[in-house]
Amino acid sequence: MARIVIENAYKTFGDFVAVNNVSLTVNDQEFVVLVGPSGCGKTTLLRAVAGLGIVDSGKIMIGDRDVTYLSPKDRKLSMVFQSYAIFPHMKVYNNIAFGLRMQRVSKAQIEERVQEAARLLHIENLLNRYPSQMSGGQRQRVAVARAIAMQSEVLLMDEPLSNLDALLRLEMRAELKSLLAKVGATTIYVTHDQIEAMSMGDRIAVMRDGEILQFDSPTRIYDFPATQFVGGFIGTPPMNFLEAQIQRDNGQLQVKIGEFTLSPPNYLHDALRLYEGQVVLAGIRAESMEALDAPAPDTLGVTVEVVEPLGSQNLLTIRMHNNVIKVSTHPTFPVVAGKQIWIRFPIDKIRWMNRDSGQALPIDLEKIVSR
Ligand SMILES: Nc1ncnc2c1ncn2[C@@H]1O[C@H](COP(=O)(O)OP(=O)(O)OP(=O)(O)O)[C@@H](O)[C@H]1O
Ligand SMILES: [Mg+2]
Repeated sequence: MARIVIENAYKTFGDFVAVNNVSLTVNDQEFVVLVGPSGCGKTTLLRAVAGLGIVDSGKIMIGDRDVTYLSPKDRKLSMVFQSYAIFPHMKVYNNIAFGLRMQRVSKAQIEERVQEAARLLHIENLLNRYPSQMSGGQRQRVAVARAIAMQSEVLLMDEPLSNLDALLRLEMRAELKSLLAKVGATTIYVTHDQIEAMSMGDRIAVMRDGEILQFDSPTRIYDFPATQFVGGFIGTPPMNFLEAQIQRDNGQLQVKIGEFTLSPPNYLHDALRLYEGQVVLAGIRAESMEALDAPAPDTLGVTVEVVEPLGSQNLLTIRMHNNVIKVSTHPTFPVVAGKQIWIRFPIDKIRWMNRDSGQALPIDLEKIVSR
């Protein structure tokens, strides 16, 4: 069992709080991704788990061992760090084999594991080179191979694919995911690439300013972001946020989004009633809006400013009053820039947020609506 439990981890650099009271449990053999903008504390948190930086307060457990103050080598884990330190004076083969030799693994097994890791990372023809004879992306793959060859129960990786070109990265992330599932390592994987996070993680922890804003499965984070920031950070394009005025007309609760007036279904009444006379944010994904090429009930006529043909979809930029929103349409939907179209907001697809705090309103949407 190699469950990782982080309890109230707190880490400062001088006055600056880099990790602010973070608690996180990674289940045995689970793949958890830490994602968030640059400087949010991902590396600092990972270093605390690795033992390269000690928390000011809090506790870190691996399995049933309290490792908070143990040195890295006593934590029984492998890691790949952002500055993928590999030994410059050792050939690639020896770099990958190094940890295994330290553990007195047999020569035959070392050979097997080095070859397997090298094959997976597509560096089998580089085993006789020195790091100085390779590109940054190749060196990075050596670092990943070295960590994988160890077959530790716990694997920590900090942006391990950041130096690879887009195509190799795409291939690598699928291969890494399948390999790690097979090996059954408990993994914490850091990236600031939200697509990588979505595609690889069993669960994703979205961080900002040293805190975890949401920790959940990729689809739940995408569909039910806990805050405006999460909705904007996860997903391409970001979730659209529109100001929605909550009002009452003839005793009926109404939501006005620009020229749109929507009648909220009963399940929204309790939450929205509290904001009567005020504005909340209505979050909606680009693919959740319906676009029509002719007027129809409950639609709003809008002018398309930009059309981006992305192959599998067309991404439209539309201006609604003060808001610029993105709407994605099927490539067969007829549209050109400057043309008018009509859009509809399915109310079940709207995610409601407090405008000031950015927090999702307390509505258990998941129980009520489908995707
Ligand atoms: N040794 C240090 N001394 C002072 N400040 C530090 C130190 N290490 C990190 N920081 C600060 O702590 C914050 C978090 O840094 P960290 O490296 O954890 O961010 P990150 O989320 O990994 O970012 P990136 O995606 O850019 O790698 C940053 O503002 C950084 O400047
Ligand atoms: Mg970092």
